[in-house]
Amino acid sequence: MTRAASQWDPERYEGSFSFVWNSAANLVELLAARAGETVLDLGCGTGQLTFKIAESGAAVMGLDGSPAMVAQARMNYPGIRFLLADGADFALPEPVDAVFSNAALHWMTRASDVVGCMRRALKPGGRLVAEFGGRGNIQAIVEAVRAEVPGAVIPWFFPSAGEYATLLESQGFRVTEMWHFDRPSRLEGERGMQDWLAMFGEPILRGMETGARAAAVERIVERLRPALFREGVWIADYVRLRVRAILYP
Ligand code: BEZ
Repeated sequence: MTRAASQWDPERYEGSFSFVWNSAANLVELLAARAGETVLDLGCGTGQLTFKIAESGAAVMGLDGSPAMVAQARMNYPGIRFLLADGADFALPEPVDAVFSNAALHWMTRASDVVGCMRRALKPGGRLVAEFGGRGNIQAIVEAVRAEVPGAVIPWFFPSAGEYATLLESQGFRVTEMWHFDRPSRLEGERGMQDWLAMFGEPILRGMETGARAAAVERIVERLRPALFREGVWIADYVRLRVRAILYP
C-alpha cells in the first residue's frame, strides 16, 4: 500500500493535521500548474491540495493507497477524480505533464519503484515537484520511539538530498532544484504529541495490546517533552526535502 498499509483515520487527519496541507501552499506555487495541463497528485490524502491545484485550471487527479483517505477525498471534492492505488505499483492510462506530491513519499519505502512509477506516469519533459521528510526528519521522535518500543520497525524513508537526487538521476530525471531544510511544525493542543503518535505512529504501535500501547505512548511523550514541548506548545522536529526535477525527453 502507498502508506505502509496503515489504518488511516480521515476524520482525525482533517481535524488536527491541517498544517500538512496548509504549510504546502508554496509547493503548489512551485508546481505552477497551468490551464490545459494534466497533473497527478501522488499520495493525495483527503484531497485539499489536489483541489488547490485544480483551481489553476489544470486537469488534476489524486492517487492514494488508503481506501479511507480516497473515500474522504471523493466526498470532499466530487468533481475531481481520485484513484485508489499503490504509489509503488501504479500506471496511468495517459501520461501527465506533472507529478506533484506533498508529505507522502516518505511513506513509500519502495522508493525506487515509486520513482519508476512517476517516470512512467510523466510525458517526456514532464516535471516532478515534491516535498517530504528528508534525512533527520522527526529524529527526536524516532529516537524516543526506538527507546520505548524495543524492536520498533520504522515505516518511513527519509533520504538525504544526495541519495534522492541519485535515485532520480538513475531513472532519467534532471534535478533542477533541491532544498533540505528544517521546518519545525506546531502540533495542536497540549496532547498534540499523543495525537500525532495516534495518527502517524499507528503502523509502529498497532501490534501492541491497548494498555501497553497507551503506556508506551505516554513514555514516548515524556521522553520528548524536554526537547519538543515549549511554552505549552508541541513542536515536531520536521525536516523537509523539496525537489523539482524534469524527466529527460
Ligand atoms: C512528515 O510529514 O514528516 C511525517 C508525518 C508522519 C509520519 C512521518 C513523517
